[in-house]
Amino acid sequence: MTDAKERIAAQLLAVRDRSLAYTEADDDLLVRQHSPLMSPLVWDLAHVGNYEELWVLRAAGGITPLRPEIDDIYDAFKTPRKDRPSLPFLGPAEARRYIEGVRGRVLDVLDAIDLDDPSPLNRDGFVFGLVIQHEHQHDETMLATLQLSGQPGLVQDGELPKGRAGGPEEVHVPAGPFLMGTDTLPWAYDNERPATWVDLPGYWIDRLPVGNRAYADFIEDGGYDDPRWWTPEGWHWRQTSGATGPLFWTRDGGTWYRNRFGRTEPLPMDEPVQHVCWYEADAYARWAGKRLPTEAEWEKACGWDPERRRSRRYPWGETEPTPALANLGHRASHPAPLGAYPGGASAYGVEQMVGGTCGSGPGPGSTATRGSAVFPYKEYSEVFFGEEYRVLRGGSWAADPAAVRTTFRNWDYPIRRQIFTGFRCARPET
Ligand SMILES: [Fe+2]
Repeated sequence: MTDAKERIAAQLLAVRDRSLAYTEADDDLLVRQHSPLMSPLVWDLAHVGNYEELWVLRAAGGITPLRPEIDDIYDAFKTPRKDRPSLPFLGPAEARRYIEGVRGRVLDVLDAIDLDDPSPLNRDGFVFGLVIQHEHQHDETMLATLQLSGQPGLVQDGELPKGRAGGPEEVHVPAGPFLMGTDTLPWAYDNERPATWVDLPGYWIDRLPVGNRAYADFIEDGGYDDPRWWTPEGWHWRQTSGATGPLFWTRDGGTWYRNRFGRTEPLPMDEPVQHVCWYEADAYARWAGKRLPTEAEWEKACGWDPERRRSRRYPWGETEPTPALANLGHRASHPAPLGAYPGGASAYGVEQMVGGTCGSGPGPGSTATRGSAVFPYKEYSEVFFGEEYRVLRGGSWAADPAAVRTTFRNWDYPIRRQIFTGFRCARPET
């Protein structure tokens, strides 16, 4: 195998090790639905194998379907998550056998494929990038399911850099055009293409994500009881959900606690807030005299290098993420404290834009493909970037570097709180 193929094979192996580690639990935990928001864990496991079969074996490799009769079961668009427990999905042992059988043939396709072939699925191993990123995204979803289950799950407490206090609260991004999206990153999805010039007025953006201390101040100031800070839809959600703070937070006397993978622990006040939905983030921003950044504002502050007039692959530049630059790849099962990564700052000096919490901010109406043809998986990019959804940017501590770059886009509903999402605020220049 060539070096490029070896690298792809290593990434395939790493993501599979991760999926198997998250599904080592006993069978009962794997087949049960822990929340109507999530699939049973064993559904996710076989779904990533089925996706790999569809794209690598059938679409790129031209191989006869192995298990065509299960395609419908694992088609995420045919059955919403809440209804998946009623599907005749494969049990844990059979699911593991199935994904292993697919994977063996995937490595054969990798061996045979020409990475210089101009067909869009083959070129630079795009189809392998597609399935590697897809599986990592499902792994993050499985972690959210484990968090919701209240079971101990797979908690990692690797050491992270210490936070640091001080420094400016906001960073100024001067007016001017920047290139949004990419034409060059080989594994970028269709919804990140093509690179397009976007001209923005000047604005201010928070240097760091909103922290637990600041968010607790919002709650203690009566933020959840004051409709002034909420949009009508947000206030409706607040009243019908009965939410009084982020998901997994509790208060005893004057002390805040959080539940993390089945453990209750004092809330670390110097970490970015997680488990708030878009409506809560939006209300906080209004209370703070600011607003959420638009998607273009987020991406310019994160990826644009104004001196070289080009986009960076990561906020700090082109070098691969290291433990000193960002908290990625589930090194620890929580965000790093605020200010922990001065070396990971963007060209404008904005910090922790990847690998803490995703940024939840942009408003509705972001289109998926921004002009390019939908390729190859329209069910990801066409369906989920309409008015009903909010765009997620940045990547959380649970995101793998393979699915993190300054142009990467994800989505969810504005009421979702189980994902490892936080936010930061922005405001116009004047
Ligand atoms: Fe999927």
